[in-house]
Amino acid sequence: MTVKILFVCLGNICRSPTAEAVFSGLAEQQGMLDQLQVDSAGTSSYHIGENPDGRATAAAQNRGYKMSHLVGRQVKREDFDNFDYVLAMDNANLRDLRRNCPAVHQEKIQSFLKYGQRFQETEVPDPYYGGPEGFDRVLDLIEDASQGLLDAIKARC
Ligand code: 4NP
Repeated sequence: MTVKILFVCLGNICRSPTAEAVFSGLAEQQGMLDQLQVDSAGTSSYHIGENPDGRATAAAQNRGYKMSHLVGRQVKREDFDNFDYVLAMDNANLRDLRRNCPAVHQEKIQSFLKYGQRFQETEVPDPYYGGPEGFDRVLDLIEDASQGLLDAIKARC
């Protein structure tokens, strides 16, 4: 059975493509990628068709994750039908997703960092207007929550 996961942030050029790349990378290392379908999207239309932010790509590359090929898109209605997990990076993303999702699929929407184990944060902070250290913090949080999510999926299969 394929488990389908959609990571969501505002622009789909910093946090959610990072989550897509990191989660896919860890899943591949652990022999799980062929059981998964992984994608990302933004709640906004700001960056449709764009590759990820160069700062996010560079920070991910430093840790061995490739994401420069990804292309920004906006969340669409069918995503709520098609995916099993719709994972929000922050509380604004969570609210926007819940507002647009049919009642029958509301339980698919969760905060991604609920799968985190090592850090106190409940949101992945938006790094767009900050410095390079913000992108490393995003990676720390996303690596931790990705491993937690992989463990949760292993436990359910
Ligand atoms: P993301 O970061 O939601 O992690 O992709 C942002 C990207 C773009 C903007 C804000 C956040 N923006 O305002 O254009």
